[in-house]
Amino acid sequence: MTGRVALVTGGAGGIGEATVRRLAAQGAHVVIADLDAARGTLLARECGGLFVRTDVAVVRDNERAAAQAVAEYGRLDIVVLNAGIAGRCGLSDFTPQRYRATMGTNLDGVVYGIHAGQPAAPVDHPDVPLVRHDPQDSTV
Ligand SMILES: NC(=O)c1ccc[n+]([C@@H]2O[C@H](COP(=O)([O-])OP(=O)(O)OC[C@H]3O[C@@H](n4cnc5c(N)ncnc54)[C@H](O)[C@@H]3O)[C@@H](O)[C@H]2O)c1
Repeated sequence: MTGRVALVTGGAGGIGEATVRRLAAQGAHVVIADLDAARGTLLARECGGLFVRTDVAVVRDNERAAAQAVAEYGRLDIVVLNAGIAGRCGLSDFTPQRYRATMGTNLDGVVYGIHAGQPAAPVDHPDVPLVRHDPQDSTV
């Protein structure tokens, strides 16, 4: 990982934070793209990385995060599209607003993240594998 540049959405907390810490410990430059500026800024300082305040449900935010990664480190090798929320609404408490908020983060955020990261780290490039998380394997 030494010298690689990795952007992690939702990287300020939970699984994303653990991913950021692991990547940084392995020598990668980390870019934390998250809504939570307080945690993200602290973690970036701790890991020697960059925090970019990002709402993954907003196209422009994803593009800005990828652009800032390239501006800061000259490249972008890895994009971990981890940001997500537990929407949890059923038939009785369904509202279009809750549905859109969940889909905006969990679905649009992944599509926009691929779109934003793609010029720097094209997913169809033979050197850029599409990595899926394997719950049985704790390595990054
Ligand atoms: N924890 C689990 O058991 C579990 C199980 C299955 C799937 N997942 C998925 O794994 C991912 C991480 O889960 P977690 O438990 O670490 O979540 P978490 O709530 O602990 O952390 C999520 C992070 O994403 C950020 N975030 C939320 N919405 C965002 C947005 N719109 N834009 C940018 N950042 C945003 C939050 O600020 C937070 O830092 C999520 O996509 C979640 O759905 C988690």
